[in-house]
Amino acid sequence: MDSILVRGNGPLHGQIPIAGAKNACLTLMPATLLSDEPLTLINAPRLSDIRTMTQLLRSLGAEVTSLQGGQVLALSSHDIHNKTADYDIVRKMRASILVLGPLLARYGEAVVSLPGGCAIGARPVDLHLRALEAMGATLELRDGYVHASAPGGLKGGTVDFDFASVGATENALMAATLAKGITVIRNAAREPEIVDLARCLRAMGAQIDGDGSSEITIQGVDRLGGATHTVVTDRIELGTYMLAPAICGGEVELLGGRIELLEAFCEKLDAAGITVTETEKGLSVTRGNGDIRAVNVTTEPFPGFPTDLQAQMMALLCTANGTSVLEEKIFENRFMHAPELMRMGAQIDVQGGTATVTGVPKLKGAPVMATDLRASVSLILAGLAAEGETKVARVYHLDRGYEHVVGKLSGVGANIERISDT
Ligand code: UD1
Repeated sequence: MDSILVRGNGPLHGQIPIAGAKNACLTLMPATLLSDEPLTLINAPRLSDIRTMTQLLRSLGAEVTSLQGGQVLALSSHDIHNKTADYDIVRKMRASILVLGPLLARYGEAVVSLPGGCAIGARPVDLHLRALEAMGATLELRDGYVHASAPGGLKGGTVDFDFASVGATENALMAATLAKGITVIRNAAREPEIVDLARCLRAMGAQIDGDGSSEITIQGVDRLGGATHTVVTDRIELGTYMLAPAICGGEVELLGGRIELLEAFCEKLDAAGITVTETEKGLSVTRGNGDIRAVNVTTEPFPGFPTDLQAQMMALLCTANGTSVLEEKIFENRFMHAPELMRMGAQIDVQGGTATVTGVPKLKGAPVMATDLRASVSLILAGLAAEGETKVARVYHLDRGYEHVVGKLSGVGANIERISDT
């Protein structure tokens, strides 16, 4: 297993290119199952989660070809011979549940393993299932699998979520494109990844209105065609790398970045004393000479502060002047990075879904370990500003969501390397 070694660093300078969004790509790929014509995705990120989705789609009979070093994915589902998503693949990645809606919509049947628990909380899939039931599907849970059927096809219906779940909205949206009649999704998630999925589905011939708002209306069509679609910028990778100069000082330009993807996050950076400006090619982030100011953060569905940036923001606030309160409202048990940051000298008190962070002048390097993707990268960011050396173990978490993390950070002057622990 590999580790990442980071040494305390001076200011960072240069440019970091931002990849296409992992979470958008993981819902765009299963959209291929809705049509027998080719779907081409441009600007795909090169990540292990994308390889897992590739493996899953291939197990169903889809063709997935990786071109241009993985930045272009050519998908085709003209010969789907298996409608069962096996536990062995699904357990590796929750996003596997996103094949359920498309398979059911196109073939009237699907069997998908339940994803099971995950390190950041219970994360059930009840909302996905209720949405499909609202479109006339019959669901049965047997031996850890969801057996879904809709022999005469799905029918348009009203889906009323009691929480604006990203994944459940994506499953419902994809399924509704081929349902007979009109589907209305109320309390829909408004994340940019949903808007990106709707854009792609429209290019395939779907009739969708209202994506980006909390009510999406879909008029079902008989069939969808092929499309070529460019994946939206990864706002979480963007926010993560914006924090690197915020923590280390200097000025870094994030190529492809846009403020509208991260308004709530940019407001908090501004309040902390970090300057973000729009440039011709993206966003530029500078930390002046002053201290970081403490700020309070509450994670919320889009357009609120993203839960996927909470751990990284905590790394910044560990050395702020004053006390910050971070409230996690999306996932229970998402503060596993806090004890690791405390091993580096941070002062953090976690009570339920609230973490109180009292800034210290300097963190100290330490061997640390992360149990999820965003937690791992927060430890790297913390290590960049710490005195001495930080070794982050279990790098496979990082490979799920950050391509070339060592190359991107060393490209702006960070002292970081990947080592093999054999
Ligand atoms: C997606 C992202 C993930 C991100 C999250 C929140 C992907 C592959 N993953 O996850 O990186 O952290 O959005 O922005 O896109 N819930 C239920 N029942 C359900 C579904 C969800 O109770 O059927 C709850 C979850 O337990 C959680 C909350 O809803 O408390 C948010 O989950 P959701 O928005 O669905 O996140 P994901 O789609 O799993």
